[in-house]
Amino acid sequence: MSKTKLMVVVVLAGIVVLSFASGATAAKNKIKGQDVFKEFCKPCHGADSEAGEYTPMSLIQDQWETFFDEKFEETHKGVTDPNHDNKPVIDVLTEEEFDALAKWTVDHAADSEQPMTCG
Ligand code: HEC
Repeated sequence: MSKTKLMVVVVLAGIVVLSFASGATAAKNKIKGQDVFKEFCKPCHGADSEAGEYTPMSLIQDQWETFFDEKFEETHKGVTDPNHDNKPVIDVLTEEEFDALAKWTVDHAADSEQPMTCG
């Protein structure tokens, strides 16, 4: 094989590997906690909401962890979501969405490096 041909093969192989890698990353980041929050939480927890306004920075990291581990089911089991066919709030989220949401709120809690409202 000539040197030029070899170079072409190496570059092509590199492109294939790179595109696989970026495809995998995109799949992993498909669900964004922020989007989950906007879609499933904010309608009931926006400013002036009766259920109380909640954004990631409403609570500290420990409180969010305790909330998702122990309290979410308890506080929302009787609550149905009018934006999602009136299903109980605790049944609307998939496990992936729930995990992404929990991670995002903890990452942007009041005592995190980047406290955030939900934008
Ligand atoms: C259909 C309306 C509705 C939706 C959707 C909803 N909530 Fe709630 N949420 C409530 C109500 C009602 C309460 C209870 C308020 C009270 O007891 O005063 C509550 C309470 C809370 C509390 C306070 C819990 C506590 O310990 O006092 C937090 C935090 C919370 N919700 C977060 C969320 C998050 C995160 C989501 C998105 C997954 C969500 N909520 C979705 C209605 C909703």
